[in-house]
Amino acid sequence: MPDQKINILAIESSCDDTAAAVLCNGKILSNIVATQEVHQQYGGVVPELASRAHQQNIVPVIHQALAKANIDKKDVSAIAFTRGPGLMGSLLVGTSFAKSLAMGLNIPLIEVNHMQAHILAHFIEEDGFDKPEFPFLAMTISGGHTQIVRVTDYFKMEVIGETTDDAVGEAFDKSAKILGLPYPGGPLVDKYSKEGNPKAFKFPKPRVDGLNFSFSGFKTAVLYFVQRETKKDPDFIEKNLKDICASIQYTIIGILMDKLKKAVQETGINQVAIGGGVSANSGIRQALRDAEKKWGWKCYIPKFEYTTDNAAMIGIAGYHKYLKEDFADYSITAQSRYKF
Ligand code: KG4
Ligand code: ZN
Repeated sequence: MPDQKINILAIESSCDDTAAAVLCNGKILSNIVATQEVHQQYGGVVPELASRAHQQNIVPVIHQALAKANIDKKDVSAIAFTRGPGLMGSLLVGTSFAKSLAMGLNIPLIEVNHMQAHILAHFIEEDGFDKPEFPFLAMTISGGHTQIVRVTDYFKMEVIGETTDDAVGEAFDKSAKILGLPYPGGPLVDKYSKEGNPKAFKFPKPRVDGLNFSFSGFKTAVLYFVQRETKKDPDFIEKNLKDICASIQYTIIGILMDKLKKAVQETGINQVAIGGGVSANSGIRQALRDAEKKWGWKCYIPKFEYTTDNAAMIGIAGYHKYLKEDFADYSITAQSRYKF
């Protein structure tokens, strides 16, 4: 596309973040996220409250994204939105809004799979960040998903391993909850780990065939361990918080890296990208940097703002669909279990 300016307005509302971004020819002009604080007091996302908060946030968030990008509605080339996977009540807000706006402006509508977008975030034009070359492996690690994906083109992706129960983000958040930390606990486990001894306590790693994962047993192991130790010493958590967090993180990263190593061996692909909220974790970031030195992998670690849910990643996926003229019908509906 020669000198044409392709402005994509992207909307993300799959879980508890209402987000909008504007991209011009694949470059981010604005990237706004309204994080919903309301869920903290419940220790997890409450779907009805998430949907209601999206309804309150969506107009101001889109206004801010357009204003920051200095783009008028009439200069938007297409609207990209998250069709799924995610919470139905949340997805419906973004989907309905995107459909009405595209219809009102009479411009193309582009549907995006949230998990593909976490992977395609690596294609955002960003100084100092290389883009992966096809084929590469992507490990998407978030509060809702844990997958290893073989990526052969922008929209040619095959899931070669995934969790059979909890997602890795849940393993972090549920362990943190057992330790009395507020939701979402993942970033706090990461923070305390930095000053703790990762080998202070030993937690079992699950035995799962192939490239699949399982995290439900891990959370139970943490629960029994904490119950046993606090019976002996009621102040056990307080006295050992940093070491417990470091040991939890060390075990989880070990589980992820074991499978990733296996995936590299089995596919012969040693270009590895990570995405999703848990890719903000300092332990997994360090493990990948070590893998580059130790095993000669080429690893792609996203910028922090593109790890947790955001609309910039929806926008870059939308931009690549725009180039292929892969547009959605205005009658499209949201899909909470959207596979690719
Ligand atoms: O991708 P995301 O924003 O939302 C979902 O699609 O789930 O991921 C959120 C998850 C939460 O479980 C959160 O605790 C986790 O990502 N997370 C982290 C860190 N930052 C976010 N987990 C471990 N260490 C972190 N630094
Ligand atoms: Zn996500």
